[in-house]
Amino acid sequence: MKRLEGRRAIITGAGSGIGRASALRFAAEGASVLAVGRTEATIAETAALVREAGGVAGHFIADATKEEEVAAAVAVCVERLGGLEIFFANAGNTDRTVPLFDQTVEAWETQFRDNVVSAFLAVKHAGRHMVAQGHGSIVLNSSTGSLRANGGTLAYGAAKAGVNSLTMGAAAAFAGTGVRVNAVLPGLTETGLTRATFDYARAKGSEAKLGALTLMKRPGRVEEIAAVAAFLASDDAAYVDGQLIAADGGISSTHPYGRFVL
Ligand SMILES: NC(=O)c1ccc[n+]([C@@H]2O[C@H](COP(=O)([O-])OP(=O)(O)OC[C@H]3O[C@@H](n4cnc5c(N)ncnc54)[C@H](O)[C@@H]3O)[C@@H](O)[C@H]2O)c1
Repeated sequence: MKRLEGRRAIITGAGSGIGRASALRFAAEGASVLAVGRTEATIAETAALVREAGGVAGHFIADATKEEEVAAAVAVCVERLGGLEIFFANAGNTDRTVPLFDQTVEAWETQFRDNVVSAFLAVKHAGRHMVAQGHGSIVLNSSTGSLRANGGTLAYGAAKAGVNSLTMGAAAAFAGTGVRVNAVLPGLTETGLTRATFDYARAKGSEAKLGALTLMKRPGRVEEIAAVAAFLASDDAAYVDGQLIAADGGISSTHPYGRFVL
């Protein structure tokens, strides 16, 4: 029996990176997946890749920051796939690094909309459905950049810290309902979001420095983040609720100095 057999899962931002890897992983574990995103071509491609790999998937075009579109995604999942047990609120965005005194309210609002409001809408609309049916698992994609400075821009870190608070608050709000809410906190992983960093390092010949401060001495891979999201979505995490689980090669467990002595 596969871990997610018989489950129906929505994954937002599933057209690339961690979202696409999660669609493939969730489907390989038996879930039927509704891949959700803003761009028809990439979202349809994710669903096609899942089907090519022998899984079940459909796609739906929606902006994760628009309430009526998130509500529609939930309705479409229930209608087309027959239910909804898992929602991976993966969609998110980072911004450019700008000196603090030049940062704008608009840029901060965008970060909070893309990262926190999108997670809130997932909790609200998937939560409403799941609480009514008495079970479900919601996974939010945060970041180790939420825990300390310099893991991303100021606004991104603050927004992802908001996602952490939402994780704990929503889990508490759903206490006793059978609905769990947890977050995965990825460390630096090569995706569309971080491509510029990787391209810059490669161009400079300093690729070896990427992820060098992690205990694994390397950046993460999308499949490694998807694996944690799949665990949190599954009944293997039946007693895990309101938790922030870092998948970051251990970097958030250490101070970034000193020698690692065997
Ligand atoms: N890559 C990393 O190093 C890293 C580290 C920590 C956290 N994360 C988080 O992982 C998540 C996935 O990002 P990724 O790294 O796979 O990057 P990515 O750019 O490859 O994927 C993000 C996807 O989300 C989509 N998206 C963005 N805003 C959306 C919206 N409003 N509605 C629908 N879709 C939207 C994008 O089109 C894209 O397909 C994000 O929440 C990001 O903050 C990534």
